[in-house]
Amino acid sequence: MKEINMIDAPKYVDERVKIGVWLTNKRSSGKIAFLQLRDGTAFFQGVVVKSKVAPEIFELAKEIRQESSLWVTGVVHEDARSKFGYELEVEDIEVVSESNDYPITPKEHGIDFLMDHRHLWLRSSRPHAIMRVRNEVIRATYEFFNREGFTKVDSPILTGSAPEGTTDLFHTEYFDRDAYLSQSGQLYAEAGAMAFGKVFTFGPTFRAEKSKTRRHLIEFWMIEPEMAFMHQDESLEIQEQYIAFLVQNVIDHCATDLETLGRDIDQLKKYTKLPYPRISYDEAIEILQKNDFDVKWGVDFGSPEETFLADQFEQPVFVMNYPKAIKPFYMKPHPTRDDVVICADLLAPEGYGEIIGGSERAVDYDYLLDQVKQAGLDPEEYSWYLDLRKYGSVPHSGFGLGLERAITWITGEDHVREAIPFPRLLNRIYP
Ligand code: 4AD
Ligand code: MG
Repeated sequence: MKEINMIDAPKYVDERVKIGVWLTNKRSSGKIAFLQLRDGTAFFQGVVVKSKVAPEIFELAKEIRQESSLWVTGVVHEDARSKFGYELEVEDIEVVSESNDYPITPKEHGIDFLMDHRHLWLRSSRPHAIMRVRNEVIRATYEFFNREGFTKVDSPILTGSAPEGTTDLFHTEYFDRDAYLSQSGQLYAEAGAMAFGKVFTFGPTFRAEKSKTRRHLIEFWMIEPEMAFMHQDESLEIQEQYIAFLVQNVIDHCATDLETLGRDIDQLKKYTKLPYPRISYDEAIEILQKNDFDVKWGVDFGSPEETFLADQFEQPVFVMNYPKAIKPFYMKPHPTRDDVVICADLLAPEGYGEIIGGSERAVDYDYLLDQVKQAGLDPEEYSWYLDLRKYGSVPHSGFGLGLERAITWITGEDHVREAIPFPRLLNRIYP
């Protein structure tokens, strides 16, 4: 008998197959038992008809408890009434391992309870759908950058540098010296770009941010492309093409998951239209002031400001050229103004805020050395980075996409903790 994954059901209609499953729920009458099953690839129904199976199989079907693991044998049928579209007419059941008193019962549970049981909660249909979208975003990321001629260059996790400021560093010991967990792979990606032209990093990054918001994780994953011989305007084009590609691929490959999550596909389709609008920081300040926000030129935007700005547009919007004083040391200074830098944040619609931060990079050795010192960083520690401006420095630009922020937006979830299998939050490192 053929062992299959239920996701392949369309290929096995009316065939007898064997599937390894867990029981998620069940109901039965005297003559028929409906088993809600999952095999990791799909959620589907198994139907056990008393008159068609051995008596002990029907008894077993009525007895099995939630999350027991089973081998089920049966015939695949189309089932237009179910979301998945296929069901299994069960002929035989073999218990692999019993489960008793599974904590996540089909009733409602609070978020803390669910997060404490994240190792089990991942089996439920919503987290499952979100993780499938996450997987698709990662897959599409590799497809996009490989297609565009990028080379993946991995940056280290243990590092001596602090590209995004020293306030939220995770300190650790590296034998007899100090080290940090990486805040960003960018500086290493810049070295990579000088070796391979166009590169991207993808890895975990860490911010000891004391913020307890629905947008902040302590450990999150970032995709950081970096391109040599490229100015910021061209980088913005790559950014919008990349985001539209991610959204389109999720629409194309995760339709069932989006349905499970109740995400409106027509809404998502709007985000595949290019180009995305671009406004300057100065214009953003004007828009906010006209609408009674108490903001002065020079401030960084918080969540209410970002949400309001994004609400003015149907698509994600680039806010360009922020004040130098609120951005990292490595950004390229504006050619005619000394108060702003050449950078952009991409704000997602629907209140999700910044999903990308990026910039053109400073290329002049003396300027950058001065910036390192002004940021209170040790020039010794950055001498390798400064070398990049000594030996064939070129215009280059890059950006970082926060993976979980992007997934939260694409799936329409409320909180970034939903977008990573095991979230690390201000007050959570378990499980
Ligand atoms: O804006 P950020 O800090 O930019 C950088 O780290 C640059 N070095 C990127 C680059 O140019 N290569 O972070 C980039 C993105 C943000 O736009 C946001 O999506 C995400 O990373 N991010 C977070 N996501 C979840 N939790 C946090 N605490 C985050 N901090 C930043
Ligand atoms: Mg940022």
